[in-house]
Amino acid sequence: MPENKTPNPVYAKVERCAAAVREALGDITVAPIAIVLGSGLGSVADRMDVACTVPYAEIDGLPVSTAPGHAGRFLFGSLDGTPVAIMQGRVHYYEGYPMSDVVLPIRLLAQLGVRSVVLTNVAGAVNPDFIPGSLVLITDQITSFAPSPLIGPNIEEFGVRFPDQSQVYDQELRNCLLRAAEETGIPLKQGVYLQPTGPQFETPAEIRAYRLLGADVVGMSTAVEAMAARHRGLRIVGISGITNFGAGMPGQADLSTEEVEEMGKEISKHLDKLLARALKLITAELWSETSSTDSVGAAIPPAGAASPAPHTEAQE
Ligand code: HPA
Repeated sequence: MPENKTPNPVYAKVERCAAAVREALGDITVAPIAIVLGSGLGSVADRMDVACTVPYAEIDGLPVSTAPGHAGRFLFGSLDGTPVAIMQGRVHYYEGYPMSDVVLPIRLLAQLGVRSVVLTNVAGAVNPDFIPGSLVLITDQITSFAPSPLIGPNIEEFGVRFPDQSQVYDQELRNCLLRAAEETGIPLKQGVYLQPTGPQFETPAEIRAYRLLGADVVGMSTAVEAMAARHRGLRIVGISGITNFGAGMPGQADLSTEEVEEMGKEISKHLDKLLARALKLITAELWSETSSTDSVGAAIPPAGAASPAPHTEAQE
């Protein structure tokens, strides 16, 4: 078969959107670390020193969130003096966007030079020990119930055709989160995240089935973003804020969006503190990196990617 020279349309769209964001940024440097804030978890951004705000709606082609509690913008600046990019709000597959659009903002951040991403979300507990209000560090994921964002012609510029998934969530970055939890005194559990498509909450039978499969938490966003991010060679870490027990579990009444949003606000208060500390530790971890490949040997960031800035406090 003759070689196909037409640029991949998904790649071309990410590049177009990235170019528009670069233009909005002017000479502002993008931090090597980004935080994705899930539904109702946007308050950490309130404390940010913002150098540039880019609403998703202002970038032609970027999907705009229709979900409650999602602001829908990129913020570039610093938090307590540490440079960071924040994605305040995301889109979900259940909103009707193609999966390539759902993961577009993550791929865009990588094009801008981001190398590590902290993914946050609200989720239901499948593990009965994870009471609402808990924070859970994601150790692994079950993505089998949501379509892969990597289906279709492989985008070689992003990663390999058959990416390894043995360590989706980076161990060193997870250690940073565990250390941040210890230092701030914020309890942090650990567990496996499972992503169905949503938008409906699960049935009690599904929750029982997911528990048997090895899931600890269930949510509608993060696993596909994690998959696309790993494909692209980003190092990632994920945190779920537990807003409710899964449907049909003891003590759980019928589920509502209001309950999820209310608990999300409560969770934000601890999460903000944990993220601020973790950001410093992760920045130090990135800075200590000596090779151009990441800890699990994935693709290197794009040419021109920002180097992690030295940060004195983080290196103490
Ligand atoms: N199921 C799926 N997603 C969720 C839940 C849930 O119970 N709670 C918050 N997000």
